Amino acid sequence: MGRKPKNQTKRNSKEIPKKNDNKVIARLRGMRDMLPEEHQYYRLVVNKSEEIIKYYGFSQTDIPALENLSLYERSTGKQTDVVSKEMYTFIDKDGDRVGIRPEATPGLVRSYIEHGMFNQPIQPVKLYWIGNLMRREKPQSGRYRQFSQIDLEIFGEAGPVADAQIILIANRIFKDLQIDVQVQINSIGCKECRPAYVDKLAEYYKQRQVRNKLCQDCKKRMLKNPLRLLDCKEESCREARAEAPQIVDHLCEECRDHFVKVLEYLDELDVIYNLNPFLVRGLDYYNRTVFEFWPEENENARQNALGGGGRYDDLVEYMGGRPTPALGWGLGVERIILKIKENNIPLADDGKPDIFLAQLGEASKRKAMIFFEELRKKKYKAAQNFVKDNLKSQLELADKLGVKLTLIIGQKEMMDETVIIRDMESGMQEVFDFKKVYEELDKRLK
Ligand code: HAM
Repeated sequence: MGRKPKNQTKRNSKEIPKKNDNKVIARLRGMRDMLPEEHQYYRLVVNKSEEIIKYYGFSQTDIPALENLSLYERSTGKQTDVVSKEMYTFIDKDGDRVGIRPEATPGLVRSYIEHGMFNQPIQPVKLYWIGNLMRREKPQSGRYRQFSQIDLEIFGEAGPVADAQIILIANRIFKDLQIDVQVQINSIGCKECRPAYVDKLAEYYKQRQVRNKLCQDCKKRMLKNPLRLLDCKEESCREARAEAPQIVDHLCEECRDHFVKVLEYLDELDVIYNLNPFLVRGLDYYNRTVFEFWPEENENARQNALGGGGRYDDLVEYMGGRPTPALGWGLGVERIILKIKENNIPLADDGKPDIFLAQLGEASKRKAMIFFEELRKKKYKAAQNFVKDNLKSQLELADKLGVKLTLIIGQKEMMDETVIIRDMESGMQEVFDFKKVYEELDKRLK
């Protein structure tokens, strides 16, 4: 009974690249590359959002991509689609159960507790986060397995003004990006008033004529979380919910007061909203105000929400911290980019160069390289290709880049301490003393 010789060990043939197998290894399903063109939109969204978020007193923070899986099971919720179906999880080499972050809120809550932020001198604690998340969803337009979010959270503020203010901040961001959104808003009550409502809802769905309309998933959800039946996208489930009791009619006095005040603030701030009794959100930790930002004029608005959030007043305590009311939202960057492109919104500053620096011959190349550094220091938007020696191909490149002016340094110019300035539109060329070139550039680029 000798051991198997090494070269006969059975392995999955898929794992072993064949000799000379140079087939392209494609990216994984649902994963995307963000190419330079899209990155310009990404910058636009992030820059505009940060400008507004910072103005309202939020500070940037970061959290790890990997966390203990229990963090999400306990906060996002073990039964939610995000945790039960969509999370990427693994056991690492130390035997720890690890989860790749599918949302940022649990990590931010953990970080808030772990760093004792309730002790910080400035309260409430206002944080924002920008980064990648992973959910193993069925890929489709606007739904990817890796995507980016801009996330904002407030810890330690119970008043309804905070709910209105974070909705206002998102609204300002969308307005600045020229995207029309509908604010969908609801209150899902608190741990005092929600259980009685959920019982009523379960009773409603138990009626045979209603139950028969439910999709298979909702029939299962009925036992675990009847609230989620309200936001199922299936047509028959939408029919089934038509006569369902509405939570706003079952809120306790405190929750009702809170909600009324949020709506009053929104009215005063001219934020238009749509009261949506079926909006419940798909994550376990919410209470009271929940909201989503749906694109205007879109039949699939619900599926393609540009962002969403709400209050989660019990989560910090539930995760081991002190009782701390909290709230926040997350905006989907890729979906916002899709909207910007759909609306043909131009990029304000696309980073295009104004000047191309061309050179001819070895000595002028060296001079041009030093000159290029000077242009950079003086903050001119310049481009070059010092690898090319041929003037024609350099001018072709300058043309493709759409610059206004090309500066040419050849042997003669080297000797005379001059530069040729070519106006790319008219093709006119003029020679200038090197010392006067900046003055001329400023005049022509004004
Ligand atoms: P969420 O509703 O799961 O909330 O996600 C927020 C936004 O992220 C969505 O409205 C959507 O724009 C974007 N998004 C979600 N999944 C995908 C995907 N697969 N592909 C592309 N974009 C996607 C949360 O994540 C909460 N943590 C938000 C929050 C913060 N609540 C309180 N604080």
